[in-house]
Amino acid sequence: MVELVPSILSADFSRLADEIAAAERGGGTVIHVDVMDGHFVPNITVGPPVVKSLRKATRLPLDCHLMIENPNDFIEAFAEAGADWVSVHYEACPHLHRTLELILHHGMKPGVVINPATRVDLIEQILPMVHHVLIMSVNPGFGGQEFIPFSLRKISRLAQLRRELGLAFRIEVDGGVAHDTIAQVVQAGAELLVAGNAVFGAGKAERDARALLDIARKAARGAGNSGTGQKAAPARRRTA
Ligand code: DX5
Ligand code: ZN
Repeated sequence: MVELVPSILSADFSRLADEIAAAERGGGTVIHVDVMDGHFVPNITVGPPVVKSLRKATRLPLDCHLMIENPNDFIEAFAEAGADWVSVHYEACPHLHRTLELILHHGMKPGVVINPATRVDLIEQILPMVHHVLIMSVNPGFGGQEFIPFSLRKISRLAQLRRELGLAFRIEVDGGVAHDTIAQVVQAGAELLVAGNAVFGAGKAERDARALLDIARKAARGAGNSGTGQKAAPARRRTA
């Protein structure tokens, strides 16, 4: 089943609860929280205190995407703050298996993230442990970037591996997912569709979430990507 996962990175941070409520009314079912440390990626965002406040603002699962070095040092804090899903980058974890076990141990659903330049096959060994795999379709650090087309082949490859291995982890895609790319992303095999700028960029989260989800569901039913009749999505705008 496809699900829309609004990324609050492009939301108005002074009105996060309202923004999330609007995205939920538009059909968003998981809230994506981008955690950046200024080291692993060239940007800084939010951490456990904000997750703790978000926990009071919504009952939707909080999907925390850690773009940080030494994630092991922060797993406990995210668990205490109320995170539901925690994903860590393959590229940031020299002992990935241990980090995923730590997330599980704290009662959260573990995910692994791979950057655009990282091959899907490199994570094969840990696939049985994860709840979701997040394929980055931009280089992480900013919202509003262009979707990298070769990500589609990586999504298909991951879906193929999942079938071959008989596993049930979910496939999530993050970066440049918008009205003009979401159908292809779904057709390639992704189910968790992270969208920041395309949901929050125009300040019409309910309307734009609904429009995106509509395209995604049509694509999932095999209706293809016409996009006809959809309201124009906001222009791409790189967000801090
Ligand atoms: C980028 C973040 C994304 C970001 C996506 O590093 O991981 O979650 O919010 O933004 P859009 O959908 O605008 O590309
Ligand atoms: Zn993200």
